[in-house]
Amino acid sequence: MSDKAAVVRDAFRRLFREEPLLVRSPGRVNLIGEHTDYNEGFVLPAAVDRAVYFALGRSTEPEGYLQAEDMRASFVFHPERIERTDLGWPNYLTGVVREIRKTGRHVPGFKCVFGGDIPVGAGLSSSAALEAGLAFGLNRLFGLKLEPLEIARLAQRAENEFVGVRCGIMDQFANLFSRARTVLKLDCRSLEHVYYPFDRDDLRVVLCDTGVRRALASSEYNVRRAQCEAGVEVLRGRAPGVRSLRDATREMLESCRGELDPVVYRRCAYVLKENERVEQACRDLERGDFASFGGRLNASHDGLRDEYEVSCTELDILVEAARRAPGVLGARMMGAGFGGCTINLVAEGAVEEFRTRVGEEYLARAGRKPEFHVGLLSAGTEVL
Ligand code: GLA
Repeated sequence: MSDKAAVVRDAFRRLFREEPLLVRSPGRVNLIGEHTDYNEGFVLPAAVDRAVYFALGRSTEPEGYLQAEDMRASFVFHPERIERTDLGWPNYLTGVVREIRKTGRHVPGFKCVFGGDIPVGAGLSSSAALEAGLAFGLNRLFGLKLEPLEIARLAQRAENEFVGVRCGIMDQFANLFSRARTVLKLDCRSLEHVYYPFDRDDLRVVLCDTGVRRALASSEYNVRRAQCEAGVEVLRGRAPGVRSLRDATREMLESCRGELDPVVYRRCAYVLKENERVEQACRDLERGDFASFGGRLNASHDGLRDEYEVSCTELDILVEAARRAPGVLGARMMGAGFGGCTINLVAEGAVEEFRTRVGEEYLARAGRKPEFHVGLLSAGTEVL
C-alpha cells in the first residue's frame, strides 16, 4: 500500500475508530488524442501511479462529511440539499452525490477522508479522480448498483454542470476502465474501447510539469468547445449528416473554408488531423513502431500549439528542450493546455540525461525548475 493510502486510512481510523472502505482513484495521462473527446473522436489515455485515496464509511447521521487531508479542511453537507460552495474543492464531490441522486438513488449519510499525490492543475486530471473515485466508492459502500459506464457518465456530468467545465468523457472513462501496463483507445462516440499493451522495458513515459497553473484553462476550454460547435454548424449546412467533427472529412472542411471563420477553420482542421493521428498511432503500436508513434506525438503538439492554440510559452520550452535531448522519441503538451505537463516518450537509458538537459534549459529560459515524474501505467479505480 502506498504511504499516502496509509495516511488517509489512519486518519479515518483515528477520527472514527473503525475500518474504512479504502479506494484508490488514479490520475491519467493521455498519449495522444487531445481535445478530441468532446468532438466524439478518439483518445489514447492510461491511468498512472498517482492517485487520490478515499477512506469511506457509513454514518448514523444524514449528512455527508468530507475531510481533505492534504488541505486540512473539512466540509459537511446534506445529500438532499446540495449547493455550490465558493470553497471550490467540495463541489467536485458534492456534485457527484447530486448526480447519483438524480438517477433516483438514495445516498445516506457517509464519512469520507481523502488525500493523494496527483498534482492539481497539472493536466493529470485530479478532478476526474475525485469525481469518479467518490462515485465508485459510494457505489460500493451503499450497493447502489451503478455500472462503471454510468459512474463515468455521472462523474462527467458533475464536472459539466456543477464545476462548470464542459469536459468530455476521456478522463472519467480512463479513471475507471484503465488496466495496468496498457493504454486504452476509446471511441468517444460509441464508447467502444480497445487495450494496447504498453510495457516496453526500454521506454519510459516521462511527465514534465511546467509548474504553471492558469485559471484561463477552463474558460478557454469552453471557448474551444464552442468554436468546434460553430464549425459543425457550418459543415452541417453542406452535409446534413454531420453531427459532430467526428463525421467531417478534410475534403468537407476544405469545401466550406470560405464560409468558416479562419479561427474556427484552424480548430476544426486540428481536430480532424488529431483523430487521424490517434488511429495511425494505434497502428504504430500494433507494429511495435515506437519511433513512428513518437513522431505523431510531436505532430500533435505542433497542432495544439499552432492550430488549436492551447499551448503556452512554458510548455513549448519544455517540448523544444525535450526534442533536443538524446533518446527522446516524442514530446507534446498534455491535457487541456495553458500550463500543466508535457508527456515525453524517452528511452529508458536516457531518462537521467533527459532530466538534466530539460531541467537546465527550462531553468535558463523559463526561470524555474520543472518537476519530473516517470508515469507507470496502472489499473483504474479499485478497492484496496
Ligand atoms: C481535459 C478534459 C478532457 C479532454 C482534455 C483535452 O482533460 O477534462 O475531457 O477534453 O482536457 O484532451
